[in-house]
Amino acid sequence: MYNYKDLTKKYDVDFAKAIHKRKSKRTFNDLPLKREDEEILKTEILEINRETGLKIQLVEDKPEALNPIEGSYGLLTGVRHAILLIGKDDEDDAERCGYYGEILTLLCVDRGMDTCWVGGSINKDKLDLDIDDGDVIHALIAVGSSAEHSFKDSVIDKIMGFKEKNRENIVEGNLHNMPSWFKEGLDVANMAPSSLNQKPVIYSYVELEAHVKLSSKQRYSYLDLGISKLHFEIGADCGKWTLGDEASFEFEK
Ligand SMILES: Cc1cc2nc3c(=O)[nH]c(=O)nc-3n(C[C@H](O)[C@H](O)[C@H](O)COP(=O)(O)O)c2cc1C
Repeated sequence: MYNYKDLTKKYDVDFAKAIHKRKSKRTFNDLPLKREDEEILKTEILEINRETGLKIQLVEDKPEALNPIEGSYGLLTGVRHAILLIGKDDEDDAERCGYYGEILTLLCVDRGMDTCWVGGSINKDKLDLDIDDGDVIHALIAVGSSAEHSFKDSVIDKIMGFKEKNRENIVEGNLHNMPSWFKEGLDVANMAPSSLNQKPVIYSYVELEAHVKLSSKQRYSYLDLGISKLHFEIGADCGKWTLGDEASFEFEK
């Protein structure tokens, strides 16, 4: 079974550090991906696709297909490389794209690449994609190298509201009665990227059981759900969420 923890063994990925370091970048320069990064990404994408049936693809040096990204906000510029999150047009695959896409995002960040999750559509005619009828691009992750946090990034941060560090916003119930692993999960879930920074994922701990659900359902909510669940698992470090909205937490054996 594909497990994000294997990336620590394989490439020495420090997930906690990558989560703290990750910040959306929206202005990319024209540097190519490093050969080693490209190989590692392709290897992991292959493994994820084999395990999940997703059709994630890495697109390199295709600015003509990636600018502009119709329907996106934030005025991304100079996008040359991207991880396309492709799967069946259903909620489960959208969530999987969120979960596995965020593993790939954190792998990129750990290796020094800049990233931005993006919802929207690209010019598929300019790409030779392996995509079946019924498959859709759920979202993409722009990757590459960018200037330091740009003025544009700061403006977007302001509009979206600064990264809210308050875990009380994503939990129902009284935190005093919750175990420390659950609170650590919340802290890391609170740092998860989400579309429009809406953070629609709510956790609860009732009668010794942990639960998660969506507080609202919009265009990218299931992607947000997958991303948030991964962050929680990294923070809690003792189990895994079942798939879907209204899911429960299963402890590692
Ligand atoms: C599914 C999804 C779609 C997103 N779409 C866009 C987008 O179209 N344009 C953009 O600038 N940022 C997009 N973002 C990035 C969020 O705005 C960003 O993650 C959020 O504001 C939190 O900021 P941070 O990533 O710097 O922590 C998206 C994020 C997710 C998870």
